[in-house]
Amino acid sequence: MARLASRIEAAATPGRRFILGIAGSPGSGKTTLAVALVDHLNAGRPGVAAHLPMDGFHLANATLDRLGIRDRKGAIDTFDGWGFVALLDRLRVETDHVIFAPSFRRVVDEGVAGEIAIEPAASVVVVEGNYLLADSAPWSGVRDRLDLAWFCRTPAGEREARLVDRHTRHGRTVEAATAWARGVDGANAVLIEATADRADLIVSGVTGQPEEAGRER
Ligand SMILES: Nc1ncnc2c1ncn2[C@@H]1O[C@H](COP(=O)(O)OP(=O)(O)OP(=O)(O)O)[C@@H](O)[C@H]1O
Ligand SMILES: [Mg+2]
Repeated sequence: MARLASRIEAAATPGRRFILGIAGSPGSGKTTLAVALVDHLNAGRPGVAAHLPMDGFHLANATLDRLGIRDRKGAIDTFDGWGFVALLDRLRVETDHVIFAPSFRRVVDEGVAGEIAIEPAASVVVVEGNYLLADSAPWSGVRDRLDLAWFCRTPAGEREARLVDRHTRHGRTVEAATAWARGVDGANAVLIEATADRADLIVSGVTGQPEEAGRER
């Protein structure tokens, strides 16, 4: 983790909030990587880093029902992308007060407003989520709002196994979990994997180590 953290320290500008984005397919290990990184940074300087998952911008189940798209919850159009992009802008300019953001609670399968607090002292914000590097609006506006973009990559077979494990822990049968991991999650992964070339760096979601250089910026 020290190697990855030093990349942030090298790229950061004193006095300006630094926003790192970690994109990747469902189950690739984005959240695990982001938490490890934020913990590492905060161990050195308490409060310097904050974790902001995109998951809190899931549309509510009632909204998905109204739109008739609940059966593919997790797809790119089942999130409030515009709201997420607006939050990135707020992170830049509102540095004199706490910024509250929604979280996502898997146990209730819904977002929770204002559960995440980004303190003014958080000079590094690690945002993570599936669609940060997607090239359709509004997501296409995310890349330029990030100081650094990483893509977390894990082989499809390993991701699927992780997803089946998680879906069954949250109450699905193995059959239903496997169908969801291959169907809905799998279709999303095809879109997401194609966005990896917009990242500055590929990080393995298995070893947590950099894999190869992405495009130079
Ligand atoms: N390096 C790793 N080795 C083994 N298991 C891991 C590793 N990283 C993550 N996992 C496991 O894989 C599962 C998915 O990880 P995680 O929640 O970090 O992925 P994610 O990319 O955030 O998924 P999602 O897109 O669904 O939010 C978790 O159960 C986690 O414990
Ligand atoms: Mg996650």
